[in-house]
Amino acid sequence: MFDSISGQYDLLNRLLSLGVDRWWRQSMVKRVGRRKPQSVLDVATGTGDSAIALKKSGATRIVGVDISEQMLKQAQKKPTSAGIEFVKADGERLPFDDGCFDAVTISFGIRNFEHRRQGLQEMRRVLKQNGLLLVLELSMPANRIIRSLYKLYFLRIVPAVGKLVSRNSYAYRYLPCSVDEFPPRQVFAAEIQNAGFERVKAISLSGGLATIYEAKKSEKTQQHIHSTHGSCGRVLRCR
Ligand SMILES: C[S@@+](CC[C@H](N)C(=O)[O-])C[C@H]1O[C@@H](n2cnc3c(N)ncnc32)[C@H](O)[C@@H]1O
Repeated sequence: MFDSISGQYDLLNRLLSLGVDRWWRQSMVKRVGRRKPQSVLDVATGTGDSAIALKKSGATRIVGVDISEQMLKQAQKKPTSAGIEFVKADGERLPFDDGCFDAVTISFGIRNFEHRRQGLQEMRRVLKQNGLLLVLELSMPANRIIRSLYKLYFLRIVPAVGKLVSRNSYAYRYLPCSVDEFPPRQVFAAEIQNAGFERVKAISLSGGLATIYEAKKSEKTQQHIHSTHGSCGRVLRCR
């Protein structure tokens, strides 16, 4: 699905979020930057906007991973993405050694994973000790009036504009459904914790239209969490 809308994805993102997505990404990047990371992995990087924004975090190595080849091609076309390593891979089976990255980010991507827990455990595995996870995701506003307006916008306007611009009616009908089906804040925060993270925080953005989940890799549960990979067969090694 993302392959087929890759050419119009950025335009639709700007249009449908009225440009606010840029501000949300910057909020995530600021949080990453506070850790002064050297290496950051952006999972489900798509057309690379978050990976590009992550340059401001001061990291010397930024890697963007996505399962869609066409989304990655769009990312690579951008002059601003120079220096970022892009890798085609499934976020549920990351091709990196354990403990490679100081921070892992994922923006508007976890909602699309088939096995969320597996994806979260993989992100944990590739994080260094005390590594930071940041998940930026659309969410349902708590206020009833804002929520009703948001649902109206998502169920009526988003599919119509999405179909018009991308010529793909399924993709932009899928978007509101995937947001609606995503677990509420506390439930997803608990999922993050259960995947082996601690100090999970949920930071509401723009009245709850989006949420940043911040968490630290927990060492305590390491013995209970088993990776699906063996020690060999990794495509990429830490530098
Ligand atoms: C809504 S886009 C978000 C892209 C980008 N992160 C952004 O902020 O604009 C979701 C992305 O998740 C990717 N994706 C979905 N499932 C994935 C998986 N299992 N592993 C890696 N990427 C995945 C899609 O290919 C798509 O590029």
